[in-house]
Amino acid sequence: MKYSIKTGAVNNIITDCIVVVVWNKGELSEEAKLADKLSDKSLSKIVRTEDFTGKLGETLTIYNPAGLKTKRLLLLGGGDDKKLNSKNAAKMLKAGLDAANKLNAGSVHFCLASIEVKSQNSIWICKRLAQETETASYRYNETKSKKAKAVATKLISIFPASGTRRKSIELALKQGAAIGSGINRARHLGNLPGNICTPSYLASEAKELGDKYNSLTVKILSEKQMSRLNMGSLLSVSAGSAEEAKLIIMEYKGAKSDSKPHVLVGKGVTFDTGGISLKAGAAMDEMKFDMCGAASVIGTMATVAQLKLPINIVGLVGAVENMPSSTATKPGDIVTSMSGQTIEVLNTDAEGRLVLCDVLTYAERYKPRSVIDIATLTGAAVATFGSHVNALLSNNDALAGSLIECGENSLDRVWQLPLWEEYQSLLNSNFADIANLGGPRAGTITAACFLSRFTEKFKWAHLDIAGSAWDSGAQKGATGRPVALLVEYLSQQKV
Ligand code: BES
Ligand code: MN
Ligand code: ZN
Repeated sequence: MKYSIKTGAVNNIITDCIVVVVWNKGELSEEAKLADKLSDKSLSKIVRTEDFTGKLGETLTIYNPAGLKTKRLLLLGGGDDKKLNSKNAAKMLKAGLDAANKLNAGSVHFCLASIEVKSQNSIWICKRLAQETETASYRYNETKSKKAKAVATKLISIFPASGTRRKSIELALKQGAAIGSGINRARHLGNLPGNICTPSYLASEAKELGDKYNSLTVKILSEKQMSRLNMGSLLSVSAGSAEEAKLIIMEYKGAKSDSKPHVLVGKGVTFDTGGISLKAGAAMDEMKFDMCGAASVIGTMATVAQLKLPINIVGLVGAVENMPSSTATKPGDIVTSMSGQTIEVLNTDAEGRLVLCDVLTYAERYKPRSVIDIATLTGAAVATFGSHVNALLSNNDALAGSLIECGENSLDRVWQLPLWEEYQSLLNSNFADIANLGGPRAGTITAACFLSRFTEKFKWAHLDIAGSAWDSGAQKGATGRPVALLVEYLSQQKV
């Protein structure tokens, strides 16, 4: 998509579609008023019929509006102008883009100069428009013989609020577009089936990114190399699979090479059958999405490389397939993690933590400023939060606070659960240092407690994205969360 800034009067803009906002009860925004005046009060007339009331997300197209040089004028409902917070503004933009896409408009101009979003500066809406534009143009095509039609829109222009520098608006558009494309990359990987998106496939996708960006170095460790590092826990998960496990290491350098990095760790279980503790059949296909944490790390690394963030960042992905077979790990088996701690595998379906713990230990070598792991870790997180909010657990309150705030700004929200001492004893084992199962209750917390045994050497936060990583039902598909949150967090870090 191409983006441009156009600050000409609305009657001089030549484009396929102009978008103006109309508030609740048909109250015209400044731009809509101007269009109304130029077009012989055609907007006022429509609003008076109450066919269009300006409800949030409502749209109506006027063809060949008099007095304007556009083929279409799209009225976009903004709802109550006093209630236009970031969430409603994003919803409004998305509705406008979806409507414009249906119209086959090659170029679309958004008149947003008078639109104020609560507790955001005037740049925010430009950034969000670009992000929404990218995500609205995503289509899944890879394994379909009949490809979905690509969106017709090729050019988005914007009339931003006055008083903002052109440079900062251009930057905001770039940032938003890069975030959107990172989200789409994560969705693409998440949506691919398990027989295509294997650990080796994820590794080659990461490698390709490394080839594309000079600032990004990608290394892949084989099972043999991981076994030399004593990653007995991670390897116990792939023991039953014919697919080789991979440790994907993506090192992004945006600062001096001795500057300590921030580290992202993604759970990349490309299919989770449960292993010998086999899952029930219903909706098991959705366990192809069990690598969405990994996909969000890869998507985020692509975005930060595109944006040339001035810090160092390492993305690590533990990529494995969890299968039952005669070589699979069995309940009761005891494995030794890279940290030296022994683990009793009481349930082979609690495999995510077994993968993550070794990758987290590997992260120690970077002496990281912070480590965030992202994982579709527990069904309990879905039960707790549904699909809107991700679970956050952390050993550092400042880090947790900053992630909560970034979640608000990016509309990719997280909420904290306690990581209190009382829960730790649920992981006691009679035969090993720790069990991989904390019993039937407080599953998201006990899973994080398990990880906390491997993260004592750094500031760490865990995001359980089991509820938000994909949608089920008719709209089944990966969401690309929490790429927006991660990019927001990394963008705020200074060297
Ligand atoms: N990948 C699943 C978690 C999951 C389940 C995510 C359903 C989204 C929807 C994970 O590996 C798993 O199986 N977790 C178990 C842990 C349990 C055995 C302690 C779970 O949540 O049931
Ligand atoms: Mn599992
Ligand atoms: Zn899993």
